Amino acid sequence: MSDTGEEWQVARRRKGAGRKSKTLQGPPKSTCKQLLAAGSSDLSKAPESADSDGPTEKLERSGDGRHCPQLDCVCYGLGSFSSSVSSRYQLAMLLLLLDAGQIPLKDCSVYDPAFTSGESNVLRELGMTVITENEEGKRLATKPTLFYVMHCGKALYNNLLWKNWNTQYLPLVLIIGNSFNGMKDRFVQEFKRDYGYITQAVSVCEERHLPCPSQMIDVFSDTAVITFPSNSLSRLPQSTWADPPEPQYQHCPDLEIIQRETQS
Ligand SMILES: C[S@@+](CC[C@H](N)C(=O)[O-])C[C@H]1O[C@@H](n2cnc3c(N)ncnc32)[C@H](O)[C@@H]1O
Repeated sequence: MSDTGEEWQVARRRKGAGRKSKTLQGPPKSTCKQLLAAGSSDLSKAPESADSDGPTEKLERSGDGRHCPQLDCVCYGLGSFSSSVSSRYQLAMLLLLLDAGQIPLKDCSVYDPAFTSGESNVLRELGMTVITENEEGKRLATKPTLFYVMHCGKALYNNLLWKNWNTQYLPLVLIIGNSFNGMKDRFVQEFKRDYGYITQAVSVCEERHLPCPSQMIDVFSDTAVITFPSNSLSRLPQSTWADPPEPQYQHCPDLEIIQRETQS
């Protein structure tokens, strides 16, 4: 199926195809491993398992000898991968990351309101867990969790930060998504008012920017691995952690995310 919305067609093998098939150059597995190791070495132990040796804090050695915690994964906003090339590449990257991080497919939860029922079925067939309700990104990380949030609305990141806005939970969050610094620089006006959690996180998070080949700009531009080291969080005033208010976005006419339907 093409991006022009044409119907699916049965693909027939051309004469000679298959024998001389070209291999697409993706990131090598070692790169994905390094990516995860770099981010996850910052992750703290899960609060409930700090003193035990249970599966949540089971540590594995990454390729370079650093310890890498066992991660859960949540993917928001992948997009419609049956119609978008970018989404297909991002899905491929996600599968490589899961493989490199030895994250079981069932431990990867995915959600996008744009998924068709066919796409949800494909993801289930792959073994992933399809989230059935719109969480608006408000998922608590009770154990070290990779959030794969590529090119998504700022409110999705802001909501995720709000839900984990605690010195205990934030260090368990590893985001692969848009650079917070990039967002702050691009959207000066009203950014502080509407996206207060991103604004505060910028000064304490650690961002590692991923290089993006020029032919992949639409797919992987402005992507960073973002972590929240515990020792950096102490730089924020104590008052920020007390009863953080849920974001409302009443001043945002162009909210870039789809919100859950409220019952009237
Ligand atoms: C700009 S598109 C990015 C799609 C794809 N990742 C890409 O880079 O082409 C933003 C995506 O976020 C999804 N989205 C909107 N609201 C969402 C929500 N509440 N939870 C998860 N995803 C959401 C949209 O459906 C859309 O697919």
